[in-house]
Amino acid sequence: MSSPTLKVGIVGLGRLGQRHAINLAQRVPNAEVVAACSPVPAELDWAASTLGIATGYADYDALLAHPGLDAVFLVTPTSLHADQIIAALRAGKHVFCEKPLSLDLADCLKVEAEAARHPQLTVMIGFVRRFDASYHDAQQKIAQGLIGKPYLVRSQTCDQNDPSGAFMRFAPTSGGIFLDCSVHDIDLARWLLGNPVPKRVYASGTNAIHTGLQAFGDVDNGLATVEFADGSMASFMASRTMAHGHETLTEVFGTGGRLAVGSNPRLNRVEISDAHGVRNECTPDFYARFADAFLIEAQEFTDAALGRRTLSLTLHDATEATRIGLAMTQAMREARPVAF
Ligand code: NAI
Repeated sequence: MSSPTLKVGIVGLGRLGQRHAINLAQRVPNAEVVAACSPVPAELDWAASTLGIATGYADYDALLAHPGLDAVFLVTPTSLHADQIIAALRAGKHVFCEKPLSLDLADCLKVEAEAARHPQLTVMIGFVRRFDASYHDAQQKIAQGLIGKPYLVRSQTCDQNDPSGAFMRFAPTSGGIFLDCSVHDIDLARWLLGNPVPKRVYASGTNAIHTGLQAFGDVDNGLATVEFADGSMASFMASRTMAHGHETLTEVFGTGGRLAVGSNPRLNRVEISDAHGVRNECTPDFYARFADAFLIEAQEFTDAALGRRTLSLTLHDATEATRIGLAMTQAMREARPVAF
């Protein structure tokens, strides 16, 4: 590609899309946001007034036809991801898309097949934790043999309770807590264990506070165990009801040691000693924990699309995360082990 910068269209300007838009517009040197797309006029107004993105489209196909557009950054509802990726590839655009790739395995495979027809285009699904400095360091240490042979990952994504229950608006389309939250842990487990093949899944869950989730076959706390064909295992917890904040924690057990990332979900390095004891404040939400990783992820996508590096993760990784997440959801809903 002759252009020195990647001309990006940001699609979806909601809770996370605005964060990505700010990174791309202000903090990724080789990216230029040339247009935005959202069906909500106020979101396009925000992009124009806050970031100077003058061209806004309500219609995704119109964005794809924007002159000179190189890439799209999809931060849209999960149910739209597969179709929007395929349309972008057919229009000759590089694609970044938020996780999960899809809630439907056949759709994941369709996207993989379409991407294979366009090997010159970069397609990346945003498994942001791979770009966090601590997870990156842990993975390198495991690959170097620091803890011997890794055989068990125990990983959790636990969100602070939102008493307003605002997240309930995502319940009809999120795919449930395992596909929405644990999909990150599933991807980490595969990465840290060296991509083992899943064999069988057990899962269960409960609604501790948000009983309304039951209507969608969902829970506010879920537990799952995955057995892999090589004898390794992974155990996952996801929660929406933490009192103290957002706590992402991953432990990896190996034959020669154990690594843990995030045992203390500290907000920063300040330690408070007072009448309550010795403590630190906690990260309030996922963005406070992974802000740096979101930026590094966008930089990797941009550099890969410009042909300056290769991606460190594949589309197939995203398909596998969905495959395992679907089996976990089925095991919980049907209250039985599910074999692959
Ligand atoms: P949101 O509901 O706040 O935002 C969705 C955006 O998509 C809105 O701007 C909406 O106007 C726009 N939109 C809806 N239909 C559209 C269409 N047809 N064309 C273009 N834009 C359209 O949702 P949120 O929380 O920002 O999530 C978006 C995606 O990001 C989801 O797939 C979610 O799983 C993922 N996500 C990933 C996280 C991570 O840790 N990597 C954290 C939070 C969300």
